[in-house]
Amino acid sequence: MPDQIRLLVVEDVPQVAQYIRGLLNSQSMIKLLDVVSDGTRVPRLMAELRPDVVLVDALLQGRVKGMSLVEQLHASGSRVPVIVLTVPQQPVQVNPDLGIDGVLPMPFTGYELVTGIQHAQQAASQADAAGAARMVSVFAPKGGVGKTTIAFNLAVALALQGLRTVLVDGSIQFGDLRALLKVPSEAPSLLDLPTDRIQESDLQDVLWRDPSGIDILLAPPRIEMAEMVTMRDLEKVISLMRRVYEVVIVDTPAVINDVNLAFLDASDTILEVVTYDSTTIHSAMVVADAFRMIGYPATKVRYLVNRCDSTGGFDPEVLNRALGRVPEHSVSSGGALVVRANNEGIPFVIADPTAQISQDVVRTARELVGLAAPAPAAAARRR
Ligand SMILES: Nc1ncnc2c1ncn2[C@@H]1O[C@H](COP(=O)(O)OP(=O)(O)OP(=O)(O)O)[C@@H](O)[C@H]1O
Ligand SMILES: [Mg+2]
Repeated sequence: MPDQIRLLVVEDVPQVAQYIRGLLNSQSMIKLLDVVSDGTRVPRLMAELRPDVVLVDALLQGRVKGMSLVEQLHASGSRVPVIVLTVPQQPVQVNPDLGIDGVLPMPFTGYELVTGIQHAQQAASQADAAGAARMVSVFAPKGGVGKTTIAFNLAVALALQGLRTVLVDGSIQFGDLRALLKVPSEAPSLLDLPTDRIQESDLQDVLWRDPSGIDILLAPPRIEMAEMVTMRDLEKVISLMRRVYEVVIVDTPAVINDVNLAFLDASDTILEVVTYDSTTIHSAMVVADAFRMIGYPATKVRYLVNRCDSTGGFDPEVLNRALGRVPEHSVSSGGALVVRANNEGIPFVIADPTAQISQDVVRTARELVGLAAPAPAAAARRR
C-alpha cells in the first residue's frame, strides 16, 4: 500500500507498546515499522527505516530520556513530525518550533491514535510543499518580446513579497542581464562554480548581489565561453538553487537547445511571453507543438501577454483561439518608464511602484507563486 503512513514508535513500557501494536493491527492506514525501547538507537533508525511520523513516550527512560530525544531529533534538522505520548499528570504542549508536532495523552483510543498520526503527517507534508522552491522560466520563441525586462522585474517583485529569490541569466551566450544591470565583466558567472561538488557556499561566492534585493547567477562574460557550460553542472546548480531559494526565475533566450531545455525541463512553470502580432502567434503554435512532443503537460506553460494594451488593431481573440485559451497573465506597456529604468539598470517595480506596468508585474508575481488567484480574463478585459 503506497499511501500508508510509516510509523516508528519509541516506547519502553511493554504494556503500552503492546497496546499500540494491538490498535494498529486492526487498520491499514498506518504501517508500524518498529517499536524501540532504547532512545539511543533512534537517530540511526530514522535513516534506516525512513518513518513518516515518530511517536515518542515523554516518560521514556534509559540513557536518552523521552523529551531529550524529541529535542535531539529537532536539533538534527529532521523534518519528520514527532508526536509525544503523555500522561495527564505531566502535560506537554504542542509546539512545532520545539519539534513537538502533536501530543497524544494517555489513555487514548485507536481512533485518536490514527487521526493524531494522520494530522501530524498531513501538516508536515503541507509545510514541505509550501517550502519547496518554485522555478519559473521566462521564455518566448521570438526575440525582443520583453523576456529579460519581465524576468528581472518579476524577480524583484517576488523579493518584495518577502520571498528569497534568485534570478538566473539563462542567455548563456549573450548574457542579457550583465548589460542590463551594468555588471562589470570580471564579475563571476556560473562557469566559476566548481565542476564536481557544488556547495551552497560556492554558489554564494559567484552570485551577483543586485542593489534591487535579488541574487543573480550571471552568464559567462564572453560568447565562446558558453560552450564550457555542461549539462551536468547546470543540473547540479539548478537543484542547489532550488534548495537554497524559495523562487528561482530564469531569463531564457529565444531558442530550443540543450541548455535551454535543461532550464525548461527543471521548471515548474514556463512563462511564455507573447504579444499581439501575427509572428508571435505563429511561433507560439510551433512551440506548443514542440512542448507537446517533449511531453510537457499543458498546465506547465502559462502565457503572459506583454504590452497587452497595445493591440495595434490586432484582435486578441485571434491570439486566444491560436493558444486555445485566454492568456493567464498580462502586462501593460510601460513606455518611457521602461526605457529609463532599463537604461539605468534599475527595476521599474521599484522606480515607480504605482505605474500600471509595475502593478501588473507584482500581480503576476503573486499569481505565479499562488499568493493571488490568476485572473484568466485579464488580457481580454483590458481590450
Ligand atoms: N511592457 C513593455 N513596455 C515598454 N517597453 C517594453 C516592455 N517590454 C519590453 N520592453 C522593451 O522592449 C525591448 C526588448 O525587451 P527585452 O530585452 O526585455 O526583450 P527580450 O525578449 O529579453 O529580448 P531578447 O530576445 O533579445 O533576449 C527593451 O527595449 C524593453 O525596454
Ligand atoms: Mg533577453
